[in-house]
Amino acid sequence: MGKCAWGRCLFRQLQSGPIFDMKLLVTGKGGREHALLTALAESPSRPQLFCWPGSDAIFETAQRTTARDLPSLIGFMLEEGIDLCIAGEESLLVTDQGLANLCEAAGIPCWGPPRESAQLEASKEFAKQFLVRHGIPTAGYRAVDTIEEARAAVTAMPVVLKFDGLAAGKGVAVCQTMAEAESFLEAVLVQRQFGPGRMVVEECLTGPELSVFCSIVDGDYQIFTPARDYKRVRDGDEGPNTGGMGAVAAPALVSAEVMAAVERTIIQPTVAGLLRDGLPYRGFLYFGLMLTPQGPKVIEYNCRFGDPECEAVMPLFGGDLAEYIAAAAVGKLTPGLLEPRPGWSVCLILASAGYPESSRSGDVISGLEEVEGVRVYHCGTRRNARGDYESNGGRVLAIVAQASTREAARDKVYAEAAKVSFPGSQRRSDIATLHFT
Ligand code: AMP
Ligand code: GLY
Repeated sequence: MGKCAWGRCLFRQLQSGPIFDMKLLVTGKGGREHALLTALAESPSRPQLFCWPGSDAIFETAQRTTARDLPSLIGFMLEEGIDLCIAGEESLLVTDQGLANLCEAAGIPCWGPPRESAQLEASKEFAKQFLVRHGIPTAGYRAVDTIEEARAAVTAMPVVLKFDGLAAGKGVAVCQTMAEAESFLEAVLVQRQFGPGRMVVEECLTGPELSVFCSIVDGDYQIFTPARDYKRVRDGDEGPNTGGMGAVAAPALVSAEVMAAVERTIIQPTVAGLLRDGLPYRGFLYFGLMLTPQGPKVIEYNCRFGDPECEAVMPLFGGDLAEYIAAAAVGKLTPGLLEPRPGWSVCLILASAGYPESSRSGDVISGLEEVEGVRVYHCGTRRNARGDYESNGGRVLAIVAQASTREAARDKVYAEAAKVSFPGSQRRSDIATLHFT
């Protein structure tokens, strides 16, 4: 079968109604992918689901593959006749070969951008240049190579320093004092803690953060229900940054005026900018925003859904996510295939002992079977020899509840999460309370 033949075939089928027996493969293994796969499994088009690398919990919903690495994953998809690849996390999109680039060469539609567009997430400087070029509000910045240049660029406190490369989530420092800035600059630009790379010195913005997700299909977009995540490990937004300790999502999270400003000043110019720069994009795009006194500004782009925001947002959509993504990946954005639900969704993360500095595996989880009326997504678990789930990573479980009010969703999530425990489990007690006045 020739290049893009799958895509054309899929597109023809989509024009004549829902496709049954569609085979979809999701890449990733965490809570976000578990939430995506759950929503895909609930789709009326009833696709066959596969996941790589996946997890024991995910394999209750999706089938395993024989892939060992990215090239063998492409081989598996061709052999199995996978109709569509959905990128859950970003790491494969930004590799030298690029998951979406390899899929395109193999004629497999992919939901997730090619590596040249995924630079929006992979390179802080690339994103900053894009934002400035297209007049999109963001913090002022300078990109530097050496510690001397960095010192000269630090003109006020607080300041935000960002290493321009892969740093396992540790490449950003919000510095309150010159001493803090000095020690981060020394570690990154002199000791080269993260290897070679430039540094972005950025103005520190203030205001509540907001995560906005869009589906982007060439020049079209659709905005999902907005969310807020809680990045710090302890209550009151104290302690070190984590992958996210919880999230809250609702249409009413921010006012219609704020969402209109986000759409007009940020989303529309981003979509237009991608087209103007010749950066192809079909996939989720995550806008990490700060609602500053001067209006919403972009802190970062990610070329994927957020985690744990995805766990909170997905249950707020009915309809047919599988058919929706299958159509979008071949160029047809069809918002009517999704049915947004009103109300609030709250996601609480249970993390393992030592997180985020370290994590502990092998702590047996109890109480999972007692939980009712909420969704439980597995972020980092595995089954032990007795068949019980145990911790296997920093973030272990995401417990998610929906209700018509924020308070009711929060009460429900905390009541059900209280039934689930494992040695050393950490959870915040203020998810969905902080940042609401
Ligand atoms: P990033 O990896 O760019 O998303 O940054 C990680 C976190 O650092 C963000 O979620 C913010 O909480 C914080 N941050 C990043 N940039 C800024 C900024 N310019 N002003 C204030 N806080 C920031
Ligand atoms: N919730 C933050 C992230 O997904 O990057």
